[in-house]
Amino acid sequence: MIILKSERDMDAMRPACAIAGSVLSEVAAFIQPGVTTRQVDEFAASRIKHHDAKSAFLGYRKYPCHICISVNDQVVHGLAGPRQLNFGDIVSLDVGVSYNGFIGDTARTVAVGGCGILAQKLMDITEKSLYEGIAQAVPGKRVVDVSRAIQTFVEANGFSIVREFVGHGVGRTMHEEPQIPNFVDGKSSPTLRPGMTIAIEPMVNAGRPSVKILNDGWTVVTQDGSLSAHFEHTVLVTEGDPEILTCLERMPSKLKA
Ligand code: MF3
Ligand code: CO
Ligand code: CO
Repeated sequence: MIILKSERDMDAMRPACAIAGSVLSEVAAFIQPGVTTRQVDEFAASRIKHHDAKSAFLGYRKYPCHICISVNDQVVHGLAGPRQLNFGDIVSLDVGVSYNGFIGDTARTVAVGGCGILAQKLMDITEKSLYEGIAQAVPGKRVVDVSRAIQTFVEANGFSIVREFVGHGVGRTMHEEPQIPNFVDGKSSPTLRPGMTIAIEPMVNAGRPSVKILNDGWTVVTQDGSLSAHFEHTVLVTEGDPEILTCLERMPSKLKA
C-alpha cells in the first residue's frame, strides 16, 4: 500500500527533510584528510542532536552507527570505525533523521580534499542521474519512468547501476512502498500521484554492477573493487514540479544554524 501524505503530513515532513539536508551538508564540510570515519559519525550525531532530531539509522535492524559512511569501493551501509580518510578518497555519506514523526533521507558522495578524474566523473554522473530521475517524478508518470531516466543516463556515460539496492517510499517509516529501482526491472510499476514521498537514490559503480556484503554484515562493496557513488533526495510528488524536500536551502530560518 502506498501512503499518500496529507497537507498536514507534508508540513510535518518538510522540516524533517530539511534537517537531514542540513546535517548532510555539515557532515560533508567536516570531511578532510586525516579524520576517521568514527569522528565523522560522532560529528553527525552531534549535529543531528543539535537539531533535536534522531538518527533514523541507529538501531534500524541493529545498524550500529548514526549515518552511513562508505569509502571508495564501498557502495552503501559502510560502518564508522578507526579508518582514516586519505586525500583522494571518495566518501558516500547517507543521512536519515527522524523529526516531527517523519523521516528525511538523503545522501551524497564527496571527495576527501580532491580526487582523480574518474572519481570526479563518477560523482558528477551519479548526481546528474538523480536529477534526471527526479524530473520524471510527476503525476501520471510511473515509477519506471524515474528508473529508466536514471539507468539510461548512467549507462550512456559508461557506468553501471547497482541492482540489489533501490530507492523507496518514505514517510513515518524509512522504507515504505513503492520500491524505486534505478533500472528497468520489467515488473509492474505504480503510477505517481500527488502526495507520494519517495527517496530516489542511484548507486553507481565505475566498473561492473555486482556487489557483495562484507563480513561485518553491513558494508556493501563492489565485487570488482571499482569505485562507487551514491546520491539521494527525498522528493514530494505534487500537481506541478517535484518538490525536493532534502535541500539545505529549504531549512526554515527558525531551525537554522
Ligand atoms: N538510508 C538508507 C537508504 O537510503 C538505509 C540505511 S539502512 C541502515 O535507504 F540500516 F543502514 F541504516
Ligand atoms: Co539514505
Ligand atoms: Co533511502
